[in-house]
Amino acid sequence: MSTADLFGSDAANPSDGSDASPHHGVASRAAALREQLHHHGHQYYVLDAPTIPDAEYDRLFKELQALEAAHSELITPDSPTLRVGGGVLDKFPSVRHVVPMLSIRTETDTEATGAENFDTRIRKELGLSDSDAPVDYVAELKFDGLAISLRYESGILVQAATRGDGENGEVVTENIRTIEQIPLKLMGALTAPSVLEVRGEVYMTRAGFEALNERQRERIAAGEKGEKTFVNPRNAAAGAVRQLDSKIAAQRPLSFFAYGLGDITPAEEGGPTFSTHFDLLMTLKQWGFPVAEQTACVQGAAGLVDFHQRMGQARDALPYDIDGVVYKVNSLAAQRQLGFVTREPRWAVAHKYPAQEQLTTVLAIEVQVGRTGKLTPVAKLAPVFVGGVTVTNATLHNETEARRKDVRVGDTVVVRRAGDVIPEVVSVITEKRLYEAQIFTMPHTCPVCGSAAVREEGEADYRCTGGLFCSAQRKQAILHFAHRRAVEIEDLGDKLVEQLVDAGVVNTLPDVYRLSFDALASLDRMAEKSANNVLASIEKSKQTTLPRFVFGLGIRHVGESTAKALAHHFGTMDAIMDATVDQLLQVADVGPIVALSLRTFFDQPHNREVVAQLRACGVTWTEGEPTAGASLPLAGQTFVLTGTLPTLSRDQAKDMLETLGAKVAGSVSKKTHCVVAGAEAGSKLDKAQELGIKVLDEAGLLALVAAHTNTTTETSKAAE
Ligand code: IVH
Repeated sequence: MSTADLFGSDAANPSDGSDASPHHGVASRAAALREQLHHHGHQYYVLDAPTIPDAEYDRLFKELQALEAAHSELITPDSPTLRVGGGVLDKFPSVRHVVPMLSIRTETDTEATGAENFDTRIRKELGLSDSDAPVDYVAELKFDGLAISLRYESGILVQAATRGDGENGEVVTENIRTIEQIPLKLMGALTAPSVLEVRGEVYMTRAGFEALNERQRERIAAGEKGEKTFVNPRNAAAGAVRQLDSKIAAQRPLSFFAYGLGDITPAEEGGPTFSTHFDLLMTLKQWGFPVAEQTACVQGAAGLVDFHQRMGQARDALPYDIDGVVYKVNSLAAQRQLGFVTREPRWAVAHKYPAQEQLTTVLAIEVQVGRTGKLTPVAKLAPVFVGGVTVTNATLHNETEARRKDVRVGDTVVVRRAGDVIPEVVSVITEKRLYEAQIFTMPHTCPVCGSAAVREEGEADYRCTGGLFCSAQRKQAILHFAHRRAVEIEDLGDKLVEQLVDAGVVNTLPDVYRLSFDALASLDRMAEKSANNVLASIEKSKQTTLPRFVFGLGIRHVGESTAKALAHHFGTMDAIMDATVDQLLQVADVGPIVALSLRTFFDQPHNREVVAQLRACGVTWTEGEPTAGASLPLAGQTFVLTGTLPTLSRDQAKDMLETLGAKVAGSVSKKTHCVVAGAEAGSKLDKAQELGIKVLDEAGLLALVAAHTNTTTETSKAAE
């Protein structure tokens, strides 16, 4: 039975003007309201460009609801009021797909090979030789949701079905009608074919998923039976689509992207024809379907590789999950020629990215102490391969977060690692909780040194009050000082610092410079050669810069850019240490919190002693003239670095430019003053040339720096 039958035989053709019923005026008002609601809903949900206020939309919607309540015969299958859901089913009817819903072959290979394998196969099948032009493809995102088929008859949505086993699916029309992005009636000027089956993906945004899980957690906490949280947006979307109560489905934040076609009225019966897949997608867009804006026409393997790479980078910033990209041969004639192998088309392939989420179990919850004493609860996990690495720890951020997610020892959890972001626990699979372990609470003493741990008002974090008495803070302070962006002691890693502090050999920063070969060589698993490497990298770190040194001290709220600003402003270490709060506030970048933190730090004799001892140990840097008040020579200019310079590292070049007041940006625009290009400079150099921006090589950069540098080199002073 088609859904149209539910509404009477005229229902699919609601406003044909021949209505002789006594409600003629009411019927035409209802039809007008439906049209307006279709139009404004599309503007809002698909185009993201509403043209009327929400309140006006709500008013129109309520007016239509009221009309339909008074005249139920006016309800049509495309009425926007059906989006709120209605009926409750016992089970979903099954339907046979007129055109089977196939799956696609998957390539999980690296960027280049995955795309090249596909292109090579296609060229071979199409009988193309090397001298033939590259094949045209459409590259799409592979949305991580569930496939849905939408059947329109005479332009009205009459049936929505899941993929099922590909041959038979479940009819979920009522639930699908609740998705605002899916047109209930084809839009635009193009005539609707008598049959059109659109295929695409129903998905949930990450924000929608988070909000849903938050509501679910509240329900569980309130003791509502049968409620659970969802593992990921896909799982939540699938749950919503298969919800027997469509009113509940209506409350779940579902979205849709169209990517293909199923059944359609044949051309000989007046159906539309398309020559390319892209053509088809653009027509679907005109009919009112959302098509992802990233969808691109590309050429050959190189175009596919580029798309795969670009989307891999864009992936984390998308509001929804993708698990890869899909390549499709653009020409429909070529698609027909290529045909199918068993259950997969030869003309399409999915090229996957590494999964960013996995399930694992929580073995323990530990509390780690950071450099500034911050206590962070960390879930110790059964090792799991996610986002390209094996993860054994995931942060729970702080007590509030840990309790909000209610992570407990023994729980099965979803771990996410996206890009370079540190792994985190997304959610707990509550149904898999085998036993009720204790709810997590933050200790009120430092787990490392036993000092009191306090949470200041208005702060989310507990902090250990032990300062450098706490060995955890000492270790972190040393690692911070040795960091690549601070004074950089290359061979002083966390394992070694751990050993040195635990053995009592290193307690303060200057102790690092007093390390002897014997002390190092006596450590466990320390070969002679490594001991010498460590000493060499310590020696090398003695020649540093003022901004790196200031940053390395690990003063709370003083990050890299503040350290640079302080160094530029005051010129010397002594001037920074002696600056009053008022003087500090003169520095661009420094507000009251930072100024106070600096003053508090340097008011403590032991911190001044550390600086003095480091100097006495031979740590030295070039000091400059204070530039307070005066502006730096390259102030207001933006530079972009690209390619590999022959001798300078990227960081060194950046430091030099920033010291002179320049800004170093990541991309070239009209606002860029100069591009410094090295070997294998790519698109940034092209763009600079296109825009007529000045380009320097390393020699040019060094000349520029020399021309503007007017500093006096002071050797380090012995302890004052
Ligand atoms: S095309 C015959 N395009 O991936 C080709 N599928 O096995 C049919 N998917 O579950 C699929 N994004 O739901 C296609 N842009 C996209 C897609 C996509 C996600 C899903 C699809 C199916 C699986 C393919």
